[in-house]
Amino acid sequence: MKKVLVATGGGDCPGLNAVIRGIAKRASREKDWEVWGSYEAFNGIMDSPPRIVKLDESNTGGIHVQGGTIIGTTNKGNPLRFPVKQTDGSVKLENHLQLLIDRIKELGFDAVINIGGDGSQEISQALFEAGIPIVGVPKTIDNDLSSTDFTFGFQTAVQIASDSLDRLVTTAASHHRVMIMEVMGRNAGWIALYTAISGGAEICLIPEIPYDLDKVIQKIRARYDDGRGFVNIVIAEGAHAKDGTVTGVEGEAGRQSVRLGGVAFTLSQQLKDAGLQAEIRETVLGHIQRGGTPIAFDRVIASVFGVKAMELVLNQKFGQLVVLRNNDFSAVPIKEAISTYHVVDPKGTLVQAAKGLGICFGG
Ligand code: F6P
Repeated sequence: MKKVLVATGGGDCPGLNAVIRGIAKRASREKDWEVWGSYEAFNGIMDSPPRIVKLDESNTGGIHVQGGTIIGTTNKGNPLRFPVKQTDGSVKLENHLQLLIDRIKELGFDAVINIGGDGSQEISQALFEAGIPIVGVPKTIDNDLSSTDFTFGFQTAVQIASDSLDRLVTTAASHHRVMIMEVMGRNAGWIALYTAISGGAEICLIPEIPYDLDKVIQKIRARYDDGRGFVNIVIAEGAHAKDGTVTGVEGEAGRQSVRLGGVAFTLSQQLKDAGLQAEIRETVLGHIQRGGTPIAFDRVIASVFGVKAMELVLNQKFGQLVVLRNNDFSAVPIKEAISTYHVVDPKGTLVQAAKGLGICFGG
C-alpha cells in the first residue's frame, strides 16, 4: 500500500474535517492508497513514538459537518522555527526541517497533504524544495492567502460575525449607543469588510486603511445629529489609527506574529478621550468566529479541495496548492501562492461599493 500523510496546521477553522473526509473518501476509491493523519500538525509525526492515525470511513464518516479538526492542530509547531525550551527557561527557535524530512521517509510516506494558511504553506514549500512530494490546501478564516478567491472557513466566520452584528444592532438602536464589534482577520480586513456590508454597519475599520479618529467621530456625530441616534462599528483586530500601532500581545513563544486582540477597547478609549459623549459598548467576537459547524459553502469548497488534493497526489502533481479561482477548482504552485499576502484593496470594488452604501472607513 502507498501512504499519504495529512496534517492540519495553524488555527482551527470550520471545514478542516470536510477536507480530511474528502481526502479519505477519494483515496478509498483507489485500491493501493492509505491515508494517515499526523496529530497537531507535524508534531505528531516528529514525536517518538509517532502520534499518527489511519484515516478511513470508520473515523471520517460524517465529519464534514463538525468544526475543528479531528487530528488537532497547533500554531506553535513550525518545524522551520520550532520553539525549544532551554534549561534556563528561555525559548530558542530551531530549524527541524531535516528531522521532519527524515521522519516522513523513515515512516514510509509516499506523499504529504498539508492543510493550512500562509505559515503552513511556507513549510510545504520548504519540504517540496527538499524533495518531499507534497500538496497544499488553503485554509484560514482570514481569507488572506493569495491565488484563491476564497479559503474555506472565511464565509462561515463572516456568517457568524454578521449574525452577531444583527444582534448588536437592536441594542444600539434601543439604547442609542455606539456599539463596537471587533472581528478577527489578522492583518487583513476581509471579515470586517464583508460583515460591515452584510450587517449594514455605519463604520468599518480595517488594517489596510489606517483610520483618522476625527473622521470616525464626524460620522458618529452626524448619525446622532440626523436623528438616527445610534452607530454600529465593525473593527478588524489588526486595524489601527493613522498615527498608532496594532493592539495585541507580543512575544508568545513560538508564535510568529503579535497575538492581536482588544482594538475595540483601544478605539472606545480613543473616542472617550476625544470627548465623545455617546454611550459606547465593546464586543470582541474572538474564537466564536472559528467554532462550530461550517456553512454549506465552506463544506462544499473544503470537500472539493480534499478530493482535488488527493487527485494531485494520484497524478503526482506536487508542489501545488488546490485553489478556487473564477468559480472553478484548479491548482497553482505553492511558491506563487505564498509570494504575496492577500489584503483588501482600499481602491477596489468592494471598498468603493461599501462607501456607496454610506459606510465610513475613517480614511
Ligand atoms: O488566523 C486565524 C486567526 O483566528 C486570526 O484571525 C487570529 O488573529 C488568530 O488566528 C488567533 O490566534 P489564536 O487562536 O492563537 O488566539
